[in-house]
Amino acid sequence: MLVHGAKNSALPILAASILCTSECVLHNCPALTDVGTSVEILETLGCRIKRTGTDLWVDPTGVSNGDVPDGLMRKMRSSIVLLGAIVSKLGQARLTFPGGCELGPRPIDLHLEALRKMGLHIEEDGGSLVCAVRGRLHGEVLRLKFPSVGATENLMIAASCAQGTTVICNAAREPEICDLADFLNRCGAKVAGAGGRTVTVEGVERLHGCEHRIIPDRIVAATYLAAAAATGSALEVRGVEPEHLSAVLSTLEETGCTVRTEPGRVALAAPSRLRPVRLLSTRPYPGFPTDAQAPLMAAAATAEGESVFVENIFESRYKHAPELCRMGAEICIRGRVASVRGVPALHGAQVAAPDLRGGAALVIAGLAADGETRVSGLEHIDRGYERLEQALAAAGANIRRMEREGKHG
Ligand code: UD1
Repeated sequence: MLVHGAKNSALPILAASILCTSECVLHNCPALTDVGTSVEILETLGCRIKRTGTDLWVDPTGVSNGDVPDGLMRKMRSSIVLLGAIVSKLGQARLTFPGGCELGPRPIDLHLEALRKMGLHIEEDGGSLVCAVRGRLHGEVLRLKFPSVGATENLMIAASCAQGTTVICNAAREPEICDLADFLNRCGAKVAGAGGRTVTVEGVERLHGCEHRIIPDRIVAATYLAAAAATGSALEVRGVEPEHLSAVLSTLEETGCTVRTEPGRVALAAPSRLRPVRLLSTRPYPGFPTDAQAPLMAAAATAEGESVFVENIFESRYKHAPELCRMGAEICIRGRVASVRGVPALHGAQVAAPDLRGGAALVIAGLAADGETRVSGLEHIDRGYERLEQALAAAGANIRRMEREGKHG
């Protein structure tokens, strides 16, 4: 199966593109609803955007509006990553507070505290953030309490055209951070250290456009591999960076899968029944990604023994568990810990995708289950997977989209 470009790279790179003084061409840009929302926001700001296949052409020369409408902010909580770019470009921005989301509270204190240190004046006014800076933002030493992916990205973007040098300590180290740094540097920025704990950004006057290829989506790859593991199948995923998947691949090996990697490819062969995972603990990269927790839980649901999951990144990230239980899974949640007692088989049921990755987990469980499973809430899944059902059907799965549910979720 061919893996499409990474949603979590495309979103910050699109945000950063508004800083450029000429057109950017993004290759391998996935056609996801979250990317569509980003495009809509950028168009509201004044960008002109055109898509040809997987290429996105972004002309940011008309950017003049710094207000992001509330409806669009609510559609995609991660749109806070635009703040650094907008204020850096226009000197002001007005956004609504992203608030909570299906994964629990989604605070943005780290973003705001650091941007304030860089000289941004932020007023919180009845759910809105009214932001302005006199002149340019200025470089600072910024220490994050937690290596937040979004905050690291926001600050890297804001610092690119700030006056002086910014040092981001305890930065997130995800591959998407490196992809954003590569994009920014191609546009003329001076970002060093991405992928390590300290990222240093020397501010430049302006960025120019560039051509950039978005990295493969490691979470989509992990989802396909989890589907193969759950169904006792052999599968090859192509167009991936195996080193981005190390934690996921070693967990799959622990369950008894045979994994072979070569540049751009991962081949997996699953046993007829998986072994349990002793302890799957989600951590910032290079630890096990929280986004792959739900798909792996679907696979562990039919393992021969008990698996223990610990979710350390988000508070409410087990909403798929009660849905899996409707299919016969035995999962007990206590705070951050989920014990998954493997059952010999799941059975089909009617279930609802609670969020993006939880939805993918239910699809995986449905493929492994006896009988038919109906998953509703496809709008969650479409945020991060390009036609998931087509990709799985092409690999031999018996799955189809029922249009009525596609339209109404
Ligand atoms: C990004 C990814 C998401 C992934 C997550 C963790 C995108 C678009 N989304 O989300 O898929 O699950 O990384 O790998 O790239 N936090 C604060 N204050 C802040 C910011 C974050 O307390 O100002 C907390 C969050 O509540 C959460 C943790 O830090 O508990 C991680 O959040 P963060 O790394 O910021 O995730 P996102 O960037 O939102």
